[in-house]
Amino acid sequence: MKTSFTFSLFTFFCVTSLSLTAQADMISEGKALHDKNCMGCHQAEMYKRDNRKVKTLAYLGTSVENCNTQLGTGWFPEDVQAVTQYLNATYYKLK
Ligand code: HEC
Repeated sequence: MKTSFTFSLFTFFCVTSLSLTAQADMISEGKALHDKNCMGCHQAEMYKRDNRKVKTLAYLGTSVENCNTQLGTGWFPEDVQAVTQYLNATYYKLK
């Protein structure tokens, strides 16, 4: 019983730290994609302006997708997701 508890705790920590690493990777990948492709029309000020339009995480995803479509980058959904995560972690901080 005790062994199996210790084991599940161990598994829990492994899985948790793995997913944290995966998220950190995603954010840095998102930053790279963003900085390379997205600074043509607006700077980061766009995400910090007082009357910014994005108020929810879902709408942030939509905005990234919309600008991405205008740009015609051919990103995969994972790329859109990574950039969304990056912008959220850095500027929007939405739940
Ligand atoms: C073709 C020019 C153009 C490019 C390139 C562009 N954007 Fe935009 N973006 C805009 C404009 C214009 C707005 C403002 C839209 C509005 O106010 O309704 C905007 C707004 C946004 C917003 C919402 C800001 C707010 O009000 O909170 C986000 C997020 C965003 N862009 C992300 C991106 C990302 C990510 C990329 C790279 C894929 C990108 N943009 C590339 C033109 C562009």
